Amino acid sequence: MATQNDLFKKVISHAKEYGFVFPSSEIYDGLSAVYDYGQNGAALKNNIKNYWWRAMVQLHDNIVGIDAAIFMHPTTWKASGHVDAFNDPLIDNKDSKKRYRADVLVEDYCGKLEVKIEKEVTKAARRFGEAFDKEQFLATNPRVVGYQEKIDGILKRLGQSLEKEDLADVKNLIEELEIACPESGSRNWTDVKQFNLMFGTKLGASADSAMDLYLRPETAQGIFVNFLNVQKTGRMKVPFGIAQIGKAFRNEIVARQFIFRMREFEQMEMQFFIPPGTQKEWYEKWKDTRLNWHKSLGLGEENYRFHDHEKLAHYADAASDIEFKFPFGFKELEGIHSRTDFDLGSHEEFSGKKLQYFDPERNENYVPYVVETSIGLDRMFLAVFSKSLQEETLEDGSSRTVLKLPAVLAPTQVAILPLVKKDGLPDLARKIQNDLKWNYAVNYDEKDAVGRRYRRQDALGTPYCITVDHQSLEDQTVTLRDRDSMQQERIAVDQLDRFLDEKLNPKYWLQKI
Ligand code: GAP
Repeated sequence: MATQNDLFKKVISHAKEYGFVFPSSEIYDGLSAVYDYGQNGAALKNNIKNYWWRAMVQLHDNIVGIDAAIFMHPTTWKASGHVDAFNDPLIDNKDSKKRYRADVLVEDYCGKLEVKIEKEVTKAARRFGEAFDKEQFLATNPRVVGYQEKIDGILKRLGQSLEKEDLADVKNLIEELEIACPESGSRNWTDVKQFNLMFGTKLGASADSAMDLYLRPETAQGIFVNFLNVQKTGRMKVPFGIAQIGKAFRNEIVARQFIFRMREFEQMEMQFFIPPGTQKEWYEKWKDTRLNWHKSLGLGEENYRFHDHEKLAHYADAASDIEFKFPFGFKELEGIHSRTDFDLGSHEEFSGKKLQYFDPERNENYVPYVVETSIGLDRMFLAVFSKSLQEETLEDGSSRTVLKLPAVLAPTQVAILPLVKKDGLPDLARKIQNDLKWNYAVNYDEKDAVGRRYRRQDALGTPYCITVDHQSLEDQTVTLRDRDSMQQERIAVDQLDRFLDEKLNPKYWLQKI
């Protein structure tokens, strides 16, 4: 049976082999934790962005979108707290000289306990068959309850130590749990230290006058500093939201999980400005809305869960992650944060400019509170891609690799394949391609036997293949093959657009939210 690690390796190699993700500047041996998206990856990424933007901006008349610059005035990062508090606890192994995030070492330890729980569940499910009650088993099986109590205890202590900045206790915890360096097995650790994650750069031509800048570590601040610009020019009334998709940069200590943790990545963030005192209600609402957005893609509800933060970021009064079951276990995919009035309040203080809203219903001025939804685009890409990649054994004993991407996100939505490269079939196939390309991402392929072409499209995640054969010339019908079921049906050429619209139009997917 394939291990989690094998599965992850397969994800990385498939992403490269089929033009989704390449290591950055690979001809120079790459750059650690930086990746380029290839022809299919860029299309998939754009489709994810589009799906998010439609759901957040187009479908909410009180949310608008902006595109702020990556460079911002350096005081922004003083005000936001990132200069002083955007740190990760790092620890070095003295023998292997490898550097780790101390909290990640502890979390990975807990992840192993979770795998043990899952194994117990699988064993019991097999033993009890249909009578198996998972909830009851999780609540009563002594071994499972023991593992769960251990996980809860460890995470609580980790959260509290980080909250109190008690780094000595984080080290104690690592030693008590006998966590060893994953590379060398050594337990010879340094003390835990804080490490600021922002990348610095300089603006200006001469060394004396150059100004120190940071590459933004989150897109959110571009929204906060534009709060009044947007509110006034858009005549927005609180509650309203500002959304943005853009690059962010972090000098991550541990960046070994492909596009899960990168040094240059993209975020899709939305800051929702609300009256003070209403944050709890909006926080719950956005948690629900965002989870439903994820579920609408049909990757399986069991692959999502919430994880409420014990240790809150410097700006938050409540925070929860939507975690996804990646090939290496449940990990954060999106954060929903109740950011209070920390950011706007702090920008008021540092800039000396009022960032307030006059609320006609309350008849008062206030600094709005904010609930934020923040998802990593690359992480979303990895979630979709890794869950979609499947190896199937077919009835005839052969196997196929298929990328069961949600059809609405697929880089190629329809492949048009003439059965043979002669007898006028390519002409009709090209005509169909030219008709459909206005509404769909279409690919034309006439090379190799049709069976091989189907496999190629399966591996690329193309949900529909249209095959033009000799009968097509006589009666203007084609075969339409469904990627997932591999069923083929005959359909009139003039019905294709309607059929595809029902399957591929984001409207029908987003209506599920
Ligand atoms: N504005 C809030 C904020 O930035 P965060 O939890 O630090 O919060 C939000 O980041 C999301 O950005 C995460 O849930 C994750 O999906 C993504 N993200 C964060 N760091 C990342 C990295 N190094 N590589 C890829 N994605 C990252």
